[in-house]
Amino acid sequence: MRNTFSNRIGFIAAAAGSAVGLGNIWKFPFEVGERGGAAFLLMYLVFCFVLCFPILVAEISIGRKSQRNPIGAFTVLGHKKWSLVGILSMVAAVLVLSFYNVVAGWSFGYFIEMLNGNFSAGNQFPEFIKNMVKVGGYAALFMAATAFIVAKGVSGGIERTNKILMPLLILIIVMLAGYALTLPGAREGLKFYLIPDFSRINLEVIYNALGHAFFSLSLGFGALITYGSYVNKQENIVTAAAVITLTDIGVAFLAGFMMFPLVFSQGLETNGGAGLVFMTLPGVFEQLGPVLGIVVGALFFLLLSFAALTSTVSLFEIPVAYMVDEFQVNRKKAVWIAGIAIFIIGIPSMIANGYSDFFSHFITYVGSEGSVDFMTFISDIASNTFLPLGGLLVSVFVAYVWKKENLLHEISNGNISFADTLIGRYIGFGIKYVCPLVLGVIFLLTVLERFLGIHLVG
Ligand code: PHE
Repeated sequence: MRNTFSNRIGFIAAAAGSAVGLGNIWKFPFEVGERGGAAFLLMYLVFCFVLCFPILVAEISIGRKSQRNPIGAFTVLGHKKWSLVGILSMVAAVLVLSFYNVVAGWSFGYFIEMLNGNFSAGNQFPEFIKNMVKVGGYAALFMAATAFIVAKGVSGGIERTNKILMPLLILIIVMLAGYALTLPGAREGLKFYLIPDFSRINLEVIYNALGHAFFSLSLGFGALITYGSYVNKQENIVTAAAVITLTDIGVAFLAGFMMFPLVFSQGLETNGGAGLVFMTLPGVFEQLGPVLGIVVGALFFLLLSFAALTSTVSLFEIPVAYMVDEFQVNRKKAVWIAGIAIFIIGIPSMIANGYSDFFSHFITYVGSEGSVDFMTFISDIASNTFLPLGGLLVSVFVAYVWKKENLLHEISNGNISFADTLIGRYIGFGIKYVCPLVLGVIFLLTVLERFLGIHLVG
């Protein structure tokens, strides 16, 4: 018998745990900060509902119908050729996990720094990420924690951990946002965050918002195909998908309520890029005084680590499920293989932030000035290119290979009258027309512009 989640709450907690991650708390505020505040937020919301929701439902359905990992799933429901899509998504998942785990390790490292009251950690960030003993050690620790949870199985490990960590995470973020709103400067922060400047919307904002919506909802890597394969036939997939989407958006939104007031309260810049969280916040915490600073600072980085852990677990489960399903490898052994392999694949990312010159200036895109490091490169390919491509392929697969009727039929298990509802009609229509068209066009423009330097629009 295949593993399953014990009930709906278990599945929703796990899938929401996968969705809520560094993407929401680390990446979302700095994307908003760099790309025109509320204008970005608005695009992101539109993409979540219009494009991502049908794909989210489709991924869960593909998993539940096929009872397989992504590679197996595309083969069972389609054809051997389509397993290529599964392979693509698994490669993307492994690559992303390899660097995501490194950033997760930084978060945990900063939790320890805050506990020690080291508020200079912000200025020390450039040295911290070059310190291979610390970075390597924390990354190894994080990978071990992820592997430990996955080794315990779907309900005993993944579900159990999420059921504990998700409520805690929401509690911590509500507390921190509530506190941040009382600070002077909160108003300014909220203005920046919530009043859109539509003149800032251009192609760059659009495809970053799209990539972010996919990344944030854990789509396109097969994570939700894998989790979907552990869902019971009686569960209502559409309701679950709605709760997952709203939780993910809700936490990202709350993260903004926490971050912008905190940053503006100290009169700091919002466009701190990837370092916003690590470089700016420790100084902000210092201003709160030695005791409160340690409490708020440590809670913040603990929050970040929890959010990351529930996401690394979902990424890790993909290759493990593949080995278990397709090669009947024992789960524990699969966990060892995946853990060691992914840690090693992550080494270039660990040394890409100053330790190794080569990986720190890894590549220069055609038509752009200055190089980007290996980690940024992987994240660019994975979240802005592979993800919308994965989404595109999932929608094409469902619409033209597996067929819309089979999708709707799978969804009606646990939701009998579904196909005739408005949402039911939209999901069918979205998967067949809206998603392939919009994702196809954006994917093409992204590749042309980002990697080949050809500008067709804007
Ligand atoms: N959604 C996660 C985040 O926002 C990242 C993730 C992507 C996790 C894809 C699993 C699969 O951080």
